[in-house]
Amino acid sequence: PSTTSDRLSTTCDPQGLTPMRTARLRRYLMCRPTYFDVVYSINPWMDPRKPVDTSLAVAQWERLREVYLELGHTVELIDPVAGLPDMVFAANGATVVDGRALVARFRDAERVDEAPAYRNWLHTHGFSDPRTAELVNEGEGDYLLVGKWLLAGTGFRSDPRSHGEAQEFFGRPVISLTLVDPNYYHLDTALTVLDEDTIAYYPPAFSPGSLAVLERLFPDAVIATDDDAAVFGLNATSDGRNVVLPHNATGLAEQLRGRGFNPIGVDLSELLKAGGSVKCCTLELRSGDQENQNS
Ligand code: ARG
Repeated sequence: PSTTSDRLSTTCDPQGLTPMRTARLRRYLMCRPTYFDVVYSINPWMDPRKPVDTSLAVAQWERLREVYLELGHTVELIDPVAGLPDMVFAANGATVVDGRALVARFRDAERVDEAPAYRNWLHTHGFSDPRTAELVNEGEGDYLLVGKWLLAGTGFRSDPRSHGEAQEFFGRPVISLTLVDPNYYHLDTALTVLDEDTIAYYPPAFSPGSLAVLERLFPDAVIATDDDAAVFGLNATSDGRNVVLPHNATGLAEQLRGRGFNPIGVDLSELLKAGGSVKCCTLELRSGDQENQNS
């Protein structure tokens, strides 16, 4: 169970109009973009003809890591592998809930070798028997834990049948959501989990039925605008109070502030050239001893 010692203090709006938000310290896994580049295209954001400044990508990524450390979170590092330019997107490596890891199976040949690297890291860092998914499953890119549920994306990357595999593995109810806009090809590009019962999302990224599911489950969700979605504003992480998001998602930051969250903007423009931002760079390692895994 979480104890008071791992909770950060929160401030309350003087008039008490917005709810008090409490942060819980997180354990994240990140991969320095030493070999980052855009040399192939597996999503509409990637244009191999556009130059990439790898040292700027590293500097931007270092800033993201610093922000997490300043918030008190733990950041573990996995060694980058030469020839795997997308390995910086650690969220795709696995899904880790209750101390159990379901390792990704990538759709694209260019990324398949990342899975054994992530599996090996998890295996040597306290996750006794990480299971590699049988069906295409791109980790936390498409699997987001909110309260008791795992929201699961499909349509572009993860195989819809992988949702059943994940439900069986984790023993948590999986809510299947279909993505329809190729610009928002992973669930974490169109939806962000703010706390155990609050999400933000971009409605046009979802099929009509999936949208109805989201409206039914999260009637109080934060709805992102076209402009905020287009700068990957929803590719954010939250500790329950502090929301780290792309700096130019200013409208979303304002909405979050109005809900009592503390938005923290970071500039990951180089990584966006590969179709990734804050959340893509961050895999959450949830141990088995947390009573609630994301409040
Ligand atoms: N270039 C990578 C790909 O297309 C970006 C992955 C972004 N990761 C994410 N969690 N959305 O696979």
